[in-house]
Amino acid sequence: MEDVYILAVESSCDETAAAVVKNGREVLSNVISSQIALHTLYGGVVPEIASRKHVEKVIPVVHEALKEAGVTLDDITAVAVTYGPGLVGALLVGVSAAKAIAFAADKPLVGVHHIEGHVAANFICHKELEPPFACLVVSGGHTHLVEVTDYGKFNIIGHTRDDAAGEAFDKVARAIGLGYPGGPKIDKKAKEGDANAITFPKAKIEGAFYDFSFSGLKSAVLNYLNHARMQGEEVNDADLAASFQKAVVDVLTEKAMAFVKEKGYKDLAIAGGVASNSALRASLTAACKKAGVNFYAPTPILCTDNAAMIGCAGYYEYLSGTRSDWDLNAVPNLKLGER
Ligand code: KG4
Ligand code: ZN
Repeated sequence: MEDVYILAVESSCDETAAAVVKNGREVLSNVISSQIALHTLYGGVVPEIASRKHVEKVIPVVHEALKEAGVTLDDITAVAVTYGPGLVGALLVGVSAAKAIAFAADKPLVGVHHIEGHVAANFICHKELEPPFACLVVSGGHTHLVEVTDYGKFNIIGHTRDDAAGEAFDKVARAIGLGYPGGPKIDKKAKEGDANAITFPKAKIEGAFYDFSFSGLKSAVLNYLNHARMQGEEVNDADLAASFQKAVVDVLTEKAMAFVKEKGYKDLAIAGGVASNSALRASLTAACKKAGVNFYAPTPILCTDNAAMIGCAGYYEYLSGTRSDWDLNAVPNLKLGER
């Protein structure tokens, strides 16, 4: 079979990214222009600013990705782009750019689901990994426990009823004054703290064991802070960060492990920004080892938003015949498994 080169574009949130991926799993370039410094000023992502920055960056980033890969548009087989879910204005920039490039270069266009991309980051890092396997997707906007039944095919086992895991990290970080983005800052702070210092509640959802809820935990942290402030008590931020993180990690580990055991899966993967969390990786590594399950996680740079993962998912979509029309639109609330 001829080699397949995918040019991928990702702009769903606050990273403008482009990559060239060969035959699905070989990353020739992975260029990420992060807007973190810009949004830090406001304590979170400002959608309008994100869109404007994507407009400035998207073409330079694509040029750089092609250059770094040592290819031209002529060598590209298809253009893949994230078309949802995400911020509508941000998504539109990537979708418009990818459509223009594909149209001008006379290449097929392949719309990719952002979460399908996150899961696919595992294929890049673990060449032997193939469906079916269980996967815990934990990002800023999503918390899903899924069965990956085939490339691009998912069976959703559980999802969050309220906040996503990453959202909880971001909100708690803001409350203790760590700033944005909260996940990496809590991860770092927690290393200096005692995870058993404070016991936070774990939400149980009646009749839906595999669903998640993080808003109660977030409120418990805020109540703890308010209470301490009212009493004039000093709060140990490191203990608070470590105890909150443990509460999230314990719940994620418990549900993911219960599921792989129930279904007899031999492979468990994690994906999404929160998959780069060191405590979650350590907890699942230990639990999988004990259960005799293979544990897979992408390298941290491929856990957070990037275009290489979109190139990988786009490759499998391309192989299965997915082609998007020129009227492809951004779909901010695109559901997993929908097209
Ligand atoms: O996947 P991602 O880059 O964007 C979305 O698709 O949402 O995930 C971003 C989320 C943010 O909430 C961020 O705080 C969280 O991932 N995150 C982390 C870590 N690194 C990023 N959460 C916990 N620990 C980390 N090390
Ligand atoms: Zn993401």
